[in-house]
Amino acid sequence: MRITDILRTEHTVFVAAFDQIEQMLPQLQTLAEVKLIGRLLEPLLHQHGEKEENLAYSALIHILTEKQPFERLHLDHQEKSDLLAQLAVAPDITEARHLLRTAIVMLRVHFLYEDQVAFPLMEKALQKESLETLGNA
Ligand SMILES: [Fe+2]
Ligand SMILES: [Fe+2]
Repeated sequence: MRITDILRTEHTVFVAAFDQIEQMLPQLQTLAEVKLIGRLLEPLLHQHGEKEENLAYSALIHILTEKQPFERLHLDHQEKSDLLAQLAVAPDITEARHLLRTAIVMLRVHFLYEDQVAFPLMEKALQKESLETLGNA
């Protein structure tokens, strides 16, 4: 399987989880519950982002003359980590809800950009075999 297909599938799973989280968020009563969602998401999103940076984007960045799209993606990954770190120490539930919602909105836009711009760029620039080798890794 091509790495881009694997990453797209992971996006689909995350987006389904985001839909559920956004639905349940207004009903959560305690700060601990909202923080728990952030703690559950953090390692999964971290692994996903590491795969992109270490396998997908690092393979592509060497052959692209225009690096800007990938710098933006790296900054988004950093922003996601910052928001979840702030959520972990949020002082009250209103702030925690706001941080979690902000992270989800940002990640939805980020995934869409990867799906519509970054991954097609990779699929154009790299051979199918290379994409599959990266997928196996
Ligand atoms: Fe990403
Ligand atoms: Fe992604």
